[in-house]
Order: sequence, then C-alpha cells, then structure tokens
Amino acid sequence: MSLVKINSKVTETLIEKVKNEILILGIESSCDETAAAVVADGRRVLSNVIYSQVPVHTLYGGVVPEIASRAHVEKINQVIRKALEDSGKTIQDIDAIAVTYGPGLVGPLLVGVNTAKAFAYAKKKPLVGVNHIEGHISANYIDNPELEPPFMCLVASGGHSHIVRVDDYGKYTIIGRTHDDAAGEAFDKVARAIGLGYPGGPKVDKLAKEGDPAKIDFPRASVGDSPYDFSFSGLKSAVLNYLNGCEMKGIEVNKADVAASFQQAVIDVLTEHSIRAAREYGCERLALAGGVAANSGLREAMKSAAEKEGMKFYMPSLIYCTDNAAMIASAGYYEYMAGKRAGLSLNAMPNLKVGE
Ligand code: KG4
Ligand code: ZN
Repeated sequence: MSLVKINSKVTETLIEKVKNEILILGIESSCDETAAAVVADGRRVLSNVIYSQVPVHTLYGGVVPEIASRAHVEKINQVIRKALEDSGKTIQDIDAIAVTYGPGLVGPLLVGVNTAKAFAYAKKKPLVGVNHIEGHISANYIDNPELEPPFMCLVASGGHSHIVRVDDYGKYTIIGRTHDDAAGEAFDKVARAIGLGYPGGPKVDKLAKEGDPAKIDFPRASVGDSPYDFSFSGLKSAVLNYLNGCEMKGIEVNKADVAASFQQAVIDVLTEHSIRAAREYGCERLALAGGVAANSGLREAMKSAAEKEGMKFYMPSLIYCTDNAAMIASAGYYEYMAGKRAGLSLNAMPNLKVGE
C-alpha cells in the first residue's frame, strides 16, 4: 500500500516536472549594466531587472572599467534577488544559471561569472556560459514566439557590428564584420564631438529627428572585396573634419543636421549590407539586434527594406535591444537544452568570438 503511494507520488512529481517549464536565471555584467532575469522555456520573461550604471559613468564621458567592476560587485546580489522575487520563483525552482562570460570588459565580466559560479556551486545548479553577442541575437526569440532559425541577423552594439547567419539554435556563422569601429562606438564618438555627451546613441537618435538626413553627404564606406563588412572610422573622421571645417570658416554648425546626416549614413550601410547578405544566402527571415537596434531610424529602414524584398523582419522591443539578462537567459536555455554545461573553471573571455 505504502509502496503504491510512494510510486504515485513519484509519478506525480515526474508529470509535474514534464509539464513544468524550464526556468533559466540569466546574469549579465559585461559592460555597464548589472542585470538578472528569469526566463521560462527561453521565450517567456518572468522578470527582467537592470541596474544601469549610466549616471556613474556620465561624469567621465564613457565607461570606466574599474568603476564599472566595483559597481557590479555592489549591486549584483541585489539585482539577482530582485529578479527572483519579481519572477515569483525561488532559486530552488531554477533549472540552470546562464551567465555572460564574453566578450566584454574583463573586470565586469568576472563579477558576473564568479557570482554565477558561487550560486551554481552553493545551490547545486547547472551552469551555462553565454556569449554576449549570441545573447543579443537571442533577444529576438523573446518578442517573436514564431521566430526559428535559420535567419540572418544584424548585430550592432557599442563593441561589435556583425552580420551573423543563425544556422540553428546555438549555431552561428559570421558573414560580415566591422574592420574598425563598431556602429555604436561611432554613434558615441560623434555624439561626443557635437557635445551631446554619454551615452551618445539615444541622444543622436533624438536630435536626428529635428535635422535633415540629406543635408551633409557623409561617406558610405565599403571594405575591400567583402560586400558584407563594415568600416565606420572613415565616417567618424568625416564628421570630425566637417565640424573642424565649419569652425575654421566661422560657420555655425547645425547639430541636428550633422546628427541626422551621420545617422543616415550608418543606417544606409547597415541596411544595405544586411539585406544583401540575407538575399545572397537565401534567408527569408532577417532580424536586428544589439544596442543600435534601438535606433528609431534603423528600425524603420530595416523593416521597410526587408518587406520590400519579401523577407520577414524581426526585432526585439527596445528594452531587449540594449544590455539585459533576459537575452542571456534565452540564449542560455538553448545551450542548456543542447546539453552544454560550464564547469566551475569557467573564466571571463574578453575577446570571445561569435560561434566559439
Ligand atoms: O548592446 P549595448 O547595450 O552594449 C554593448 O554590448 O556594447 O549597446 C550599446 C550601444 C552604445 O554604443 C549606444 O550608444 C548604442 O548602443 N545605442 C544606440 C541607441 N541606443 C543605444 N545607438 C543609436 N541609437 C539608439 N537609439
Ligand atoms: Zn551588448
């Protein structure tokens, strides 16, 4: 009798587990956002907590790695606790912990990696290491439940600009890359040059709405024989030269026109190369990701260009474009389901490449 009882209890637990979703706790600390999130089955966000260090770094006009590391140490436990609380789950309910281990700033990355390792060890949870750029790409799974690989994705952030073919969950091929500055870096440098300050991207985006994108003919650079690669340092220099030229001639600069014309040059190159890559590789689906994916002009341009080509277009909502941990949990889910596990020897990899 008691044996039957025990068996039915075991069966009940098993059924419950089968019915239950897989819960991933994501942790992100690669740059200046301390973030944690709980995501069910890689797509449903139960909580998404982001502590932005922007006010801490504004004084210096950019991210100071040492200050960022320290701020991560101060906030990370609170952020994780809040993510669990908001999700209505406990650490016991979590199936695995996914953490960004690269690319990024080594000090900030180490804070997330070591915290994740401590939790995994203490709570006996599997640990999954996630590539930050693959996390950005996976942000598309959150808002687009129907999106499945294969698809082409433009990832443009502060540190990276890539065109990536997502061959399958967790399988990536780099089709194009920047040879110098990342798109977001160009936004930040131009913002500084026209006195908008840090963080530059959103400020240029806002000011560009008041300017004429056709006013100044900034260069649309292509790189050697690769139709999918980017170069933004020439564009950045062209903006600086334009500003210096105006100053020397005593001409007053219309900052809104500079912002709009610069932004248009970036948008044209990013859009054209991404559409070409998707077309040439026979992808019917095109996605956008990374901090620059929050740019209103780029979102519109990519959407209309993809639709014109008869491609389905996907992009994350704004909150999942810039750094967050929900995208890390989403990428981590697919790694976890593929059986990938990181040991407690997991280390920060500042130069980690996509697909490594
Ligand atoms: O992905 P992200 O949050 O961090 C990195 O992984 O680098 O991207 C940050 C970058 C910054 O360069 C920021 O200026 C840019 O994304 N960014 C934007 C916008 N919002 C953020 N660039 C253009 N327009 C925006 N609205
Ligand atoms: Zn990022």
